[in-house]
Amino acid sequence: MNHQTRVYNSIFEMLPGEENPSPLVRINRMNPSPDFVLYAKLEWLNPFGSVKDRAAWEMLRDLEERGELGNGRGVVEPTSGNTGISLAAMSRARGYHMRAVVPNRVPLEKKVLLKIAGADLDVVSDELCPAPGAGGEGSINLAKTYAKAQRHRYALPNQYENEMNVRAHYRTTGPEIWRQTEGRITHLFVSLGTCGTVTGTSKFLRAKKPDIKVIAVQPSEGHDVPGLRNVSQLGVSKLFDPSLIDEILEIDYKLAYRRAMELFQNEGLRAGPSSGLIYEGARRIIERDKTGVGVMIFPDDIFKYTANMVRHIPSLAEGLHA
Ligand SMILES: Cc1ncc(COP(=O)(O)O)c(C=O)c1O
Repeated sequence: MNHQTRVYNSIFEMLPGEENPSPLVRINRMNPSPDFVLYAKLEWLNPFGSVKDRAAWEMLRDLEERGELGNGRGVVEPTSGNTGISLAAMSRARGYHMRAVVPNRVPLEKKVLLKIAGADLDVVSDELCPAPGAGGEGSINLAKTYAKAQRHRYALPNQYENEMNVRAHYRTTGPEIWRQTEGRITHLFVSLGTCGTVTGTSKFLRAKKPDIKVIAVQPSEGHDVPGLRNVSQLGVSKLFDPSLIDEILEIDYKLAYRRAMELFQNEGLRAGPSSGLIYEGARRIIERDKTGVGVMIFPDDIFKYTANMVRHIPSLAEGLHA
């Protein structure tokens, strides 16, 4: 493996870590304060397309090490899409089958991608799933049922409760950011889904520098931002630790889509809606704090959300047909 020439023996060698960090790219035209240095950490450049490569790999490796996989036993996972895509690709590449249980309102692009990646797919109806924008309770329960009723066939990583999800970020995301900013980071901007990202990264960075401000964003009630949870939906995320977060900003979820488009059009960053929401949170804090060095963890890109984008910005549907 050589990160200079980028020649690899398998896709797994491309997974991010301190020696192969995901890129930090500076925000220029959309930075509201000249005295604040703002970076986006581009998690869509991970090999399976999102921040979830980190948690999926840590959870899968842990199951493998404990002898839980193989001999016909694969994985089943409740997911809003990204964890499922990472887990499906990784599992299949190692010879295991994978079943993804997703809420109905997960974008069509993600459902199709899961199937292309080789996952068996269960779609849970909205009534069963009171948290449609995220991996709701219905899908979590169904995945648990598979794992219980068919123990010989399924191991359940369960990203909502699995400490490996936190450890992935403690072991990789935190150290990467510390090294990439040479310890100058003053603000960390993140979103809340399973909370693996915020808990693991904050734990590592706070141990290095206790006064780093950790700012989390959450979408307003009734949102449709896949992967994210607002406080009323956070109950199932056992990895949520408020002591590691300084502030939680609630932001109108429609801004997630608007800001995502602006990031592409003004910064060349093909950021997805959760990144858009994180940017809006950062923008508000920078207007208040004025100076510092901030890192936004941008979970994934816009390609999986074109249908959602058209719903929020209807003019995108104009002029598409001859
Ligand atoms: C697009 C997107 N944004 C943000 C998140 C939140 O990350 P975490 O689950 O680590 O809190 C996820 C995770 O599911 C996601 O898929």
